[in-house]
This record gives sequence, C-alpha cells and structure tokens, in this order.
Amino acid sequence: MAVSYKDLGLVNTREMFKRAINGGYAIPAFNFNNMEQLQAIITASSKLKSPVILQVSKGARNYANQTLLRYMAQGAVEYAKELGCNHPEIALHLDHGDSFELCKSCVDMGFSSVMIDGSSLPYEENIALTKKVVEYAHQFDVTVEGELGVLAGVEDEVVAEESHYTRPEEVIDFTKRTGVDSLAISIGTSHGAYKFKPEQCTRDPKTGVLVPPPLAFDILDDIMKELPGFPIVLHGSSSVPQEYVDMINSTGGKLPDAVGIPEEQLRKAAKSAVCKINIDSDSRLAFTAAVRKVFAEKPGEFDPRKYCGPARDLMIELYEHKIKEVLGSDNKLAQLD
Ligand code: G3H
Ligand code: 13P
Ligand code: ZN
Repeated sequence: MAVSYKDLGLVNTREMFKRAINGGYAIPAFNFNNMEQLQAIITASSKLKSPVILQVSKGARNYANQTLLRYMAQGAVEYAKELGCNHPEIALHLDHGDSFELCKSCVDMGFSSVMIDGSSLPYEENIALTKKVVEYAHQFDVTVEGELGVLAGVEDEVVAEESHYTRPEEVIDFTKRTGVDSLAISIGTSHGAYKFKPEQCTRDPKTGVLVPPPLAFDILDDIMKELPGFPIVLHGSSSVPQEYVDMINSTGGKLPDAVGIPEEQLRKAAKSAVCKINIDSDSRLAFTAAVRKVFAEKPGEFDPRKYCGPARDLMIELYEHKIKEVLGSDNKLAQLD
C-alpha cells in the first residue's frame, strides 16, 4: 500500500539544502543497511541537532527489505524525538536509483527524496529518464537528485571504468530540461575505500601514508558560476580514516593502500554550493574495525551485541565527527528546541 513520507514524519531535501547553501555547510547523507547504523546516525544527528539524510541504495533496500525500511525510517523519527530532538529533519533518500520503476516504487513506499543516476547513459537519455522521474516524484513533493559526469569505480550497479568530470557547459541545460532539485557532480571523488591508485598519490615520507591529488575545485567553481545557488551533491566523500584501516589491518584484515578524500577538502566543499555530502565507506570501515578488534581480543565472543555494540559506538563517534568537524551541520535544525 502506498504511503506518503509526510505521514512517516520525514521531510524532503528542499528546505534543508537551501539553508545549507546560504549557511555554508553541507547536510550529511549517510548510507545505512542495518539497525546499528541507523541507531548511530540518529543518535549523532539528534545530539548535534543536525538535519540528516538516511540514504538507501538499491542493494541496501534488497538487503533490509522495503517494508522494514519504511518502518525503520518512521521509527528513526520517533527515536530522534525520544533522544530530545523535538523537531528532527530526516529525509529518506534512494541512492543511485537506476530505473524509473525503482524510483517510483521508493516514492510510493515513503521515500522523501530519490536519486536517478543516469550518468552512464548518453546525455539525451539521461535527460529523458531524469525528467520522467522528476515528473512523477514532484506530484508527491518528493525531491529528485540527478547526476552529470561519471565517478571512477563502482556506482552501485552503474559501473564506470574511468571518471569523466562533469562538463560545466551542460549543467544549465540539464537542470532546466529535467527539473531536478539537486545535481551530483564528478570532480575527482569516487566510491569505496580505494579512491586513488598509489601511483596517483604522493607518499608522506614520515608516515608512509598516501596523499591523494586535490579535487577539481576549478570545475566546481565553473559549475557554480553557471548555476548560482543550485544545490550540488558530492558522492564518494569518505575520508577512509587511517586509524580504521590500521585497526583492520592489524587484526588480520587486508586493506593495502586504502585512500580517501582528505577532510580539509570536504570542509572546503561544504562551504560552497555543495550541500549534500555522501558517506558510506567510512561507516563500513568503522563497523568492521570495531568488530575485528573485539574478535581479536576475545576470540570466544559470540553474542552479536558484544561486537555490534562497540561497532555502533565507533560509528556514533564517526558521525559526530563528520557533522561537527567536517560538514558543519550541527545546530542547523530550523527549530532547535
Ligand atoms: O554509492 C554506493 C554506495 O556506497 C552504496 O553501496 O550499493 O554496496 O549499497 P552499495
Ligand atoms: P563513499 O564510498 O566514499 O562512502 O561514497 C558513498 C556514496 O557516494 C554513496 O552514494
Ligand atoms: Zn554515490
């Protein structure tokens, strides 16, 4: 049975993006697949009074079950209130939707925002598909994110061998003809824990840690000149914290030369028209690092609460850090009381 996100207590992204652009900060879009991640996201965002986007990929939706997800999102709103956040601003967003049918199904099932990722399609096909999703979603006041330019690596089931930066000369035409509410761009980020090959990086002589090349801020500037004040989205924005990589590698894991986007670059992006920053891999790393540590220290442990609990605690720490120290979205709810 169809349900409106408004009946679940969720909000779309329109107002939160407007305020984020004007205020020079970005809204966190955290992917989740399970209860512990959701608990951690809501705990951190409620404590810090941050608007937040709960982001669900096609794979996550299949993993968690769409009906369960709808009630989890509704539960998240109630949980935020229980934590003292009387007026939470929580969006439920489909990440990397790859078809009209999937986007429609999410709109019908209580999502307040959807992404249609036609970035791997020829330009005109991307426009036609995105426009179709916008026309459907806007009837229900659901906001839509489109994408122009291709990120390197794996975009859910959209695979791209190489990244193709967004072409600033296309953004006006694309946004006008599709009617999208926000635009994901490609300026050098990519998905996962291996965002750059070691040969693209320099190595810090003291620590041996890889230092990646900077993002293409010149392209972001050109896009912002073309579309002043338009909401821009940055995917692939995990920083791949070295402490988590070290925890994983020192407990039998194998993540050689994992490298992410340095936080100072994300701070810079958050101050611009980039108003949504997508983070998934860092949460996966925190979860895995904490679970591995428990197993390394207590090999006899078999109560999931004893290893998922510490994983949840580490994720809370991570999300609080992102909100406060990187994105700057703390204390940005419209109603703070
Ligand atoms: O952009 C991709 C997200 O990190 C989701 O990944 O498709 O493995 O859930 P997933
Ligand atoms: P990361 O893999 O860098 O966390 O990116 C997540 C993302 O872009 C989800 O859409
Ligand atoms: Zn993404």
